[in-house]
Amino acid sequence: MKILLLFGSPNLNGSSRILADNFIQGAKEAGHSVSMLDIAHANIHPCTGCLHCGYEGPCIQKDDMKQIRKQILDTDMIVFVSPLYYYGFSAQLKILIDRFCSFNTSIHQKHLKSALLSVAWNADNWTFDALESHYKTLVRYLNLGDQGMILGYGCGTPSMTSHSIYPKQAYQLGRNL
Ligand SMILES: Cc1cc2nc3c(=O)[nH]c(=O)nc-3n(C[C@H](O)[C@H](O)[C@H](O)COP(=O)(O)O)c2cc1C
Repeated sequence: MKILLLFGSPNLNGSSRILADNFIQGAKEAGHSVSMLDIAHANIHPCTGCLHCGYEGPCIQKDDMKQIRKQILDTDMIVFVSPLYYYGFSAQLKILIDRFCSFNTSIHQKHLKSALLSVAWNADNWTFDALESHYKTLVRYLNLGDQGMILGYGCGTPSMTSHSIYPKQAYQLGRNL
């Protein structure tokens, strides 16, 4: 199947990338076609809430979302990749998610598969409670088929992440798809 990573870390070579690369390696070895979008550096403006789209229609904003929308609707699985920022998705990724507004019905009807890859400095057992809850609610609302979450506790730097169990878990998630 076609897999599209929505990469929401501004650090292209940080901890999120380590999980993403391991996931990609596993998924490619399993025979899938994988691509990654650098969401944090794309030209994506926040939804203005004008509702010109009527929740399904062209968005009046002229930016990279026109192409990204096509790519999302042309894939079988999306993977949200985000560092934990104040216990939620990075703002960069959240801006993209809000822009789903103009093709909400199309996403719902497509029944895309999905996964979540995230890293955080904190290692307390409640670290990912809010993000996990948000992701699961998106899965439910957008009619996604969850394939799994890799939540990297104590992954505050690339070195911490490389020495953790999470790169291997990300690889396995991709490999077992
Ligand atoms: C703006 C900002 C907010 C952060 N918020 C949290 C947080 O709420 N909880 C946490 O454990 N770590 C937090 N962190 C730490 C990052 O999640 C962590 O360092 C992660 O490894 C960064 O991933 P990256 O290398 O892909 O950028 C935050 C870092 C930044 C820059």
